[in-house]
Amino acid sequence: MSYTSLKSLASKYTFQPATKLLAKDLNPHAINAKYAVRGPIPTKAEELRAKLAGESHSLPFNKIINANIGNPQQLDQKPLTFYRQVLAILQYPELIYNPALVQTIPKDLIERAKLLLGKIGSVGAYSHSQGIPYVREQVAKFIQKRDGYESDANEIFLTSGASTAVSYLVSILGLGQQTGFLIPIPQYPLYTATLTLNNSKALPYYLKEEEDWSIDSSSLRTIIENAIAEGTIPRCLVIINPGNPTGAILKPDAIANLLALAAEYGLVVIADEVYQENVFKGEFVSVKKILRELQEGDDQGRFSNVQLASLHSTSKGISGECGQRGGYMELVGFHDEVIQQLLKLASISLCPVVTGQALVELMINPPKKGQESYEQFKYESQAIFDSLEQRAASLYAAFNEMTGVSCQEPEGAMYCFPNLTIPQKAVDQAEKSGLEPDEFYCSELLDNTGICAVPGSGFGQVPGSWHVRTTFLAPGTEWIDQWKEFHEMFMKKYA
Ligand SMILES: Cc1ncc(COP(=O)(O)O)c(C=O)c1O
Repeated sequence: MSYTSLKSLASKYTFQPATKLLAKDLNPHAINAKYAVRGPIPTKAEELRAKLAGESHSLPFNKIINANIGNPQQLDQKPLTFYRQVLAILQYPELIYNPALVQTIPKDLIERAKLLLGKIGSVGAYSHSQGIPYVREQVAKFIQKRDGYESDANEIFLTSGASTAVSYLVSILGLGQQTGFLIPIPQYPLYTATLTLNNSKALPYYLKEEEDWSIDSSSLRTIIENAIAEGTIPRCLVIINPGNPTGAILKPDAIANLLALAAEYGLVVIADEVYQENVFKGEFVSVKKILRELQEGDDQGRFSNVQLASLHSTSKGISGECGQRGGYMELVGFHDEVIQQLLKLASISLCPVVTGQALVELMINPPKKGQESYEQFKYESQAIFDSLEQRAASLYAAFNEMTGVSCQEPEGAMYCFPNLTIPQKAVDQAEKSGLEPDEFYCSELLDNTGICAVPGSGFGQVPGSWHVRTTFLAPGTEWIDQWKEFHEMFMKKYA
């Protein structure tokens, strides 16, 4: 029998309708979570972008410059050809049988695509929840080569970006308000947001701005001791290296001091190392490598129980493939029971994005010298690296020329986090507008130039200090000049 409309039935019901849910009815932890890189200023930027599209002469600028988020391909960074050609074949394997196409692309690329097709099968199928075994083995080899210490594929989890790893770790390690997570301030707001979502407690530790955003491990000890005295179990220590938003790279001895605290107090270390390829000055040394060195030199077993989760991602580096959601975490020193629980958690969302997993393999195994793909890959990736380095230097120089601004030199990552002296008149005006002074500055910057940067208050800062975080991803240097001009105008206006 075919279906007949039930419109006539509606009038037979006599109940009073219940109301719709409002925000106040939702999970308060979700309501309280804040994520500044997509907060009010970026939202306003989107409104202005829509305005520009409609009536392009209505604003004092003709485009929005998104300096608010480390999203390179949103800002015209070209994807690496090698990655995309392999992914294209994984998406549509019939391409391999197209002779016209096969002649135009390097043989090693076709071979890589075939290898991955053999190991992965269809990218449209769910994979193992922990990630494709072959890719995990490759990640273990990559880590082994990077650090000079063994890595076990069974302890690698492929993830949909590093964010998913953070979410798994916080949800499994946090027991509500009685467990504390030591997070650097300033921090990437993923951490505070995920902690709020999980009703876990942040134990902020301040980075020392005037000393290249370094960490003072003695003040960390005080924070830990105070937390214990107040009945909080310090559970986890988050290290972001290279830093977001600071752009700083931690020195190996500083990492060793942090690991000593972790060993003494039983803190799980989350090492967020997504910017490990974005290094302009100094050297990136992984937390895992330092841990293994300490364990080797330790005949008392002091470092034996350290548990470390280190994270990496395809979103950063030179790939900048944020939208593909590739990443991994390596679990070092965890009890198998905990690993099994993490696996269960991963299995609830079935599997990480499969093309993202393939991209992890491409990121850690770039074309080798002598292979046909090598020259183009090298050329493209070097160009991306060089332009990031140049823009980091231009931005750093520009900030330090601005009145009342000081900026630490970015050693890595994709960001500058300059310190602003905001004139009292501007602070008063901000208060009238219900904004933090740095939010007011960013709002004025956006209104006058179209540059969308994020106030330091979204990342945390020493009370009474004001910062702004900008990426150095936007192409060209014109926008940097515009920023300089705006800044001097702002300082004069509110002097
Ligand atoms: C320090 C840090 N960790 C993690 C992430 C999350 O990256 P994804 O989830 O795209 O891998 C970001 C993104 O900007 C970041 O800056």
